[in-house]
Amino acid sequence: MHTLVTGGGGFLGRYIVEKLVARGDRVRSFGRRDYRDLAALGVEVVRGDISDQQQIAAACADIDCVFHVAARPGTSVLPRPYYQANTLGTQHVLAGCRRHGVPRLVYTSSPSVVFSGVDQTNIDETAPLALDWLARHQSYYSHSKALGEQAVLSANDGPLRTCALRPHLIWGPRDAHLLPRLIARAKAGRLRRVGNGQNRVDSIYVENAADAHLLAADALARENSPVAGNAYFLSQGEPVNCWEWIDQLLALANLPPVKKSISPQAAWRLGAACEAGYRLLRIQQEPPMTRFVAAQLATSHWFDLSAAVHDFGYRPAISSEDGMRRLGCWLSKQA
Ligand SMILES: NC(=O)c1ccc[n+]([C@@H]2O[C@H](COP(=O)([O-])OP(=O)(O)OC[C@H]3O[C@@H](n4cnc5c(N)ncnc54)[C@H](OP(=O)(O)O)[C@@H]3O)[C@@H](O)[C@H]2O)c1
Repeated sequence: MHTLVTGGGGFLGRYIVEKLVARGDRVRSFGRRDYRDLAALGVEVVRGDISDQQQIAAACADIDCVFHVAARPGTSVLPRPYYQANTLGTQHVLAGCRRHGVPRLVYTSSPSVVFSGVDQTNIDETAPLALDWLARHQSYYSHSKALGEQAVLSANDGPLRTCALRPHLIWGPRDAHLLPRLIARAKAGRLRRVGNGQNRVDSIYVENAADAHLLAADALARENSPVAGNAYFLSQGEPVNCWEWIDQLLALANLPPVKKSISPQAAWRLGAACEAGYRLLRIQQEPPMTRFVAAQLATSHWFDLSAAVHDFGYRPAISSEDGMRRLGCWLSKQA
């Protein structure tokens, strides 16, 4: 199989690339930066920006399956970059697939596309996209990802088969987002538990998320695949107490557990104030709190995995315990 991985140099994308190479697929990676280590693996590294229609279209030539993993993550209050990369960029990927007759596309979405500020326990894929709530609360990342997912799933037809995967809270070695942020905040004494500490969340070890991408792509290749046109939640399949899990991650970095707390209402007000200030001053960086983050940290969100298990045989091959051990080893080598 000749594959294209957008964002192949990123945290999740790189694991997908490595697994494709390991099983003998030809891989092209697309991103804005140069990745010499990927080239050393035999990957064709193409530099470009998904918000440039011509660049991404050219990268879709002669491809059997696109893994569209690239996205702009984060919680900045300036919307334009999110829509450029995540919504427009995804439309460009779809146009590239059409132009070059690519038969399959796997889109990396996010469970936050259905988040509406309240507890979500054991929900399945019948939950609707939360477009209105996300737009009203200026969660531009999730809103732009939801629009991307909508475009991908509605593009599913005979010549192009598509699906969307929604991995929740990806963690593991080489994470450049969640863990470094937690560690930086903990070291600065700026980490607070939001709420009563009882909320449970799903998460997924990065290699399990990568495996799911390959499984979904293979399932899409089968005639009458139930995967075509559908979205799937992905996780370890064992929701954990959010704050005990954060303490576990901090312990791997030899940091003490979170001791201070803040009420959900106070975190929400702080988020609203930070958003307003950052927007007024047009600050590109992420505010220390947003209403979306306050709501995420105070609520439970975990998902029914039955559809992914049934439709493409997903199972988390690496247990949470084993994943934590691997992450701990990696962290100790970084120190
Ligand atoms: N991490 C999580 O917990 C999580 C949870 C749910 C869903 N997801 C989704 O999983 C995917 C991968 O996330 P990740 O954590 O691996 O993030 P990441 O490490 O930041 O990787 C994203 C990649 O996208 C590329 N990219 C960003 N903007 C681009 C643009 N305009 N043009 C071309 N390439 C661009 C970046 O490469 P360059 O800088 O070289 O361009 C980067 O390699 C994303 O779609 C994200 O929405 C992540």
